[in-house]
Amino acid sequence: MGINAQVLLTFGTIICFASTSYTYDGTASFYKPPYVPSSCNGYRDDGIFLAGASDAVWKNGAACGKVYVVYCTGATNQAPHPCTDTGTAVVVRIVDYCPKGCRGTINLSEVAFSMIADLSAGVIKVNYTEWKN
Ligand SMILES: *[C@@H]1O[C@H](CO)[C@@H](O)[C@H](O)[C@H]1NC(C)=O
Ligand SMILES: *[C@@H]1O[C@H](CO)[C@@H](O)[C@H](O)[C@H]1NC(C)=O
Repeated sequence: MGINAQVLLTFGTIICFASTSYTYDGTASFYKPPYVPSSCNGYRDDGIFLAGASDAVWKNGAACGKVYVVYCTGATNQAPHPCTDTGTAVVVRIVDYCPKGCRGTINLSEVAFSMIADLSAGVIKVNYTEWKN
């Protein structure tokens, strides 16, 4: 095999390895509609299961369109048990940027947040994993 194929294969292996989804711990806040315009897609309607990414996730816009599975893992404040009993995850697409001072690592749309936790908590602890198919 030629040298180019060899390089490609090696590179492919590295990419596969790097794309093994890692689960991160962070916090989540939420934001209310309207969800357009968004930093990623302007006035395009992307539905309601959305999120804004803080700098840790945003990566200069590389986060746009990425899909994350987000679980509530606990409280960050006085509200002792914010997570819903069912322990379900919510799946959201990154369509926006949550600027410096963002209250969470990931800023969920209100409806997405409400599926995993009590809105009155405001900010919760979460874990999040990029969804790849
Ligand atoms: C993420 O949090 C959920 C809910 O607490 C838990 O069941 C799951 O194991 C966590 N995932 C990882 C990879 O830690
Ligand atoms: C996200 O949450 C912050 C509060 O931390 C808010 O100021 C910001 O505008 C929100 N919006 C988006 C799209 O991230």
